Amino acid sequence: MSPDRGYQASFNENNQEFVIAGKLRPRSEDEIRPLAQSLGEALGQVKGTFYLNVKRLARLNNVAFRVIAGLVSQVCGGRPDLRVEVVTSSVMGWSTRKFLPLARLLPNVSVNEYDKDFYPGQSYLEEGGFIPILRAQTKLTWQHEKHLLPRHGLRPGMAMADVCCGIGDFAVLVQKELKPASILALDHSRSSLDYARKVAADFGVSGIEYVYGDASEMVLEDNQFDFVTCRHSLQVFDRPELILRELYRICKPGGRVYITNEKNSHCLGEPRAESIQWTYNEVARLWADYKMDIELGPKSRRYLIDAGFEDIRVDSFMVTNLDGDPQSFADIIQSWENVYAGEMARDRGDSPEFIARFRQGFQDHIYAALHPKGYAGWPIWAASGRKPS
Ligand SMILES: C[S@@+](CC[C@H](N)C(=O)[O-])C[C@H]1O[C@@H](n2cnc3c(N)ncnc32)[C@H](O)[C@@H]1O
Repeated sequence: MSPDRGYQASFNENNQEFVIAGKLRPRSEDEIRPLAQSLGEALGQVKGTFYLNVKRLARLNNVAFRVIAGLVSQVCGGRPDLRVEVVTSSVMGWSTRKFLPLARLLPNVSVNEYDKDFYPGQSYLEEGGFIPILRAQTKLTWQHEKHLLPRHGLRPGMAMADVCCGIGDFAVLVQKELKPASILALDHSRSSLDYARKVAADFGVSGIEYVYGDASEMVLEDNQFDFVTCRHSLQVFDRPELILRELYRICKPGGRVYITNEKNSHCLGEPRAESIQWTYNEVARLWADYKMDIELGPKSRRYLIDAGFEDIRVDSFMVTNLDGDPQSFADIIQSWENVYAGEMARDRGDSPEFIARFRQGFQDHIYAALHPKGYAGWPIWAASGRKPS
């Protein structure tokens, strides 16, 4: 309904969900009479819980809020059996604040900020503890990816997006060395974005816009970017296909989406191969218990095909202790141990004996990385697909 007016509204009977998205800024109540009418009709049809989804509503002025709130209070007042759940998003910081008073006023209305706690590994990935891991990782993967990115279609002058950008160091490296026209870098971690903005400012890098958002519901227009990257992130999300759908949507027809993912159980090292192997098999199990798939790398091709991409290109590369300073690789392994054994396994309730053995595999991997005759590796898959023209 009314996409030309800057907003869309639709009702899904099966989900009992009324979705309003876009910008709702009428000058008078008359301007949104059709919206009010369909909202009123939808409220009248539903039994049980009615979901009012405003997750992607970017603007809502007081005229429109009064109309919506008035309708909801009118219907709820006469029907104590009906529950109305307003689904807001932290991406639109104002929306929860705006609707909460309505919930305080009416006992059968509630407000649920859907992304407050929305994927199982969130607290580990979005807090400051992950920053050292990401920093150390990008330092080493860049040696490989700077050669792969042009092969996957990145050219100077392109409009690029880096979705789930983390601390933004990849965007900085791309901007400096491969020279796209602009980069929009989006993440759902405020602490990572703060860090990213500071790094870009410290290094005097311009041309990157860091934005807060949810990769599975981005408030970005369709068909905007020539090249969209999403690195090490489909594997942390419990429903990667939702993010891929969004990457596809914001990519221009003919543009490409580039993803990287791992297969952690294939991390390896010599000497002490057995202990190392045991630990990384356990890493894969641990992540699965948090509904994340750190084994996703080789599945990238299937995910891209299922999402509708064509001309799929897949590369795999191994970050090793021979890529540069072996200590850099050892630092990555140490930061994995700190978060996986020190936080995630502990919080899963693993026994001290398990955690000790789990830690030992990381220490053995470090031993292999720093050993004068040792070899230590971490395999990664880089894959991309073209959005059909
Ligand atoms: C493993 S990190 C990878 C970060 C970065 N791409 C890199 O390779 O260094 C995963 C990132 O995804 C972000 N993330 C997870 N789910 C997200 C979502 N729904 N929307 C936006 N960012 C999300 C996390 O905050 C985190 O920064």
